[in-house]
Amino acid sequence: MKTFLQGLISLSAIVLVQAAVADAKLDEQMTQLAYSNGCTMCHSLKSVPAGPAGMEPIAPSWQDIAEHYRGNPNARETLLKVVMGGGTVYGNHWENKVSGTVMPPNAILIKEADARKLVAWILGVKK
Ligand code: HEC
Repeated sequence: MKTFLQGLISLSAIVLVQAAVADAKLDEQMTQLAYSNGCTMCHSLKSVPAGPAGMEPIAPSWQDIAEHYRGNPNARETLLKVVMGGGTVYGNHWENKVSGTVMPPNAILIKEADARKLVAWILGVKK
């Protein structure tokens, strides 16, 4: 019984390690995808403190976006449209939280399938 339990414990440890490795690999792939499509010119993974002149970051961090949309069942579709077609200046919920006024459309840069993957990943980013 003891060996069975020990076996079970080491097996679950292996599964956990594998899951962590898979997560880290996905994080790396998606960060690379965001970089190669120009997203990281404006966005960062973590919320950054205000800049030297008290300026807000240009764009919301992936963490802040994930937090804002947590539990929203339409988030993936909504954000896919925003990423491809750009943000809107009017009534934007990031107003006064970021220094960039509006996100330009990215459709000329990114393939829709890649944008879909990125949005799904961004929504799962944890603090
Ligand atoms: C030139 C700067 C810039 C670039 C490049 C850029 N963004 Fe943005 N992004 C912004 C700004 C500013 C906002 C907040 C205002 C807005 O929503 O338009 C934003 C908002 C977002 C949001 C949240 C939208 C919402 O409605 O809450 C997502 C998701 C996002 N960007 C993803 C991306 C992805 C993915 C890329 C790369 C394909 C990208 N952005 C490239 C500036 C940028």
